[in-house]
Amino acid sequence: MSGAETSVRPASTALPEPAPDPVVEVADLEVDFAVRGAIGHAVRGVSFQIRSGEAVGLVGESGSGKTVTALSLLRLLPDRTTRVRARSLRVAGVDVLGASAASLARLRGGAAGVVFQDPLRALTPTRRVGSQIVEVIERHSGRSRTQARLEAVELLSRVGIPDARNRARDYPHQFSGGQRQRILLATAVASHPRLLIADEPTTALDVTTQSQILDLLLDLQQDLKMAVLLISHDLGVIARVCDRVLVMYGGRLVETGSTSDVFRAPGHPYTAGLLRSIPRLDRPGAVTSAIPGEAVDGFTQVVGCAFVPRCSLAAPVCTECPELEDVTPGHQAACWRSELVT
Ligand SMILES: Nc1ncnc2c1ncn2[C@@H]1O[C@H](COP(=O)(O)OP(=O)(O)OP(=O)(O)O)[C@@H](O)[C@H]1O
Ligand code: SF4
Ligand SMILES: [Mg+2]
Repeated sequence: MSGAETSVRPASTALPEPAPDPVVEVADLEVDFAVRGAIGHAVRGVSFQIRSGEAVGLVGESGSGKTVTALSLLRLLPDRTTRVRARSLRVAGVDVLGASAASLARLRGGAAGVVFQDPLRALTPTRRVGSQIVEVIERHSGRSRTQARLEAVELLSRVGIPDARNRARDYPHQFSGGQRQRILLATAVASHPRLLIADEPTTALDVTTQSQILDLLLDLQQDLKMAVLLISHDLGVIARVCDRVLVMYGGRLVETGSTSDVFRAPGHPYTAGLLRSIPRLDRPGAVTSAIPGEAVDGFTQVVGCAFVPRCSLAAPVCTECPELEDVTPGHQAACWRSELVT
């Protein structure tokens, strides 16, 4: 018997460790858009949870609803043209659909940090990077200006900006693309968020920088025990960073499970096709799809499984819409014929 086993409390007095509350809890999320008088369905009945310290990947072809799902978590979609509904939508204990504007503002950039593909859009071009980080620290931690400045320099140095004390006085355009993404990551974690949403954070970067930033993200995640939602086209990135993966097609979740289970033995032909797709060396982030045909968009009327026109396993049963069902415990796919997927 190992030392670890002998130190376990006797059964009579042992209390089960309570599972931590999920940081993200989404049940039956639906997002509709009004475009020129027509209603499009960008997200249809999506449910998932993310716990502290867990990194979950969201994958799917362009237009499958990944960004819309992520933006819905913080109600960042335009209210005028969008309708977001859910049975439950909770982030860091906040009921996102019922929250006041003030509590949403506290959540964004507070308990939930966001990193997008284009750091120049997210950073304010006319403000020194140090003061952008100082502002987040002051707003969410109540530290004094002096303390916040010290912390901002520490954070810049932590994310790999050399000579951080001096460089904190520079403006975003004075940094390279990779450095800007590091600064954005520093800004996003400056409030010690419980959730970090990263939407294609490394897509625009060269392979070496991409790899360094992913290491950094993993490091920060483990240090701060953050829940992470990572969106990427690149399944290699997801495999490296994420414990679990969510696969979206046509606004629906079609497969979920641990990254190793899903990647080793996918239960949906769409996931299997994504895994066979080849990264394009000439356009980082783009892939040559191994799946024939066009993806469905939110304006396509779908009866039954939306993947029918592209699926080599399609059969008469597929005119009924499949729900997510267990492939193995903890691994689910929405496909009538998952046992035939190779
Ligand atoms: N502001 C908007 N108005 C209307 N439709 C929108 C809007 N934003 C997104 N959509 C539609 O919602 C669907 C999902 O878009 P989304 O941006 O979530 O896709 P994605 O999976 O993030 O794709 P990509 O990989 O290209 O980033 C698409 O059909 C898109 O056209
Ligand atoms: S339900 Fe049918 S059409 Fe849909 S993915 Fe499975 S086999 Fe293909
Ligand atoms: Mg997107």
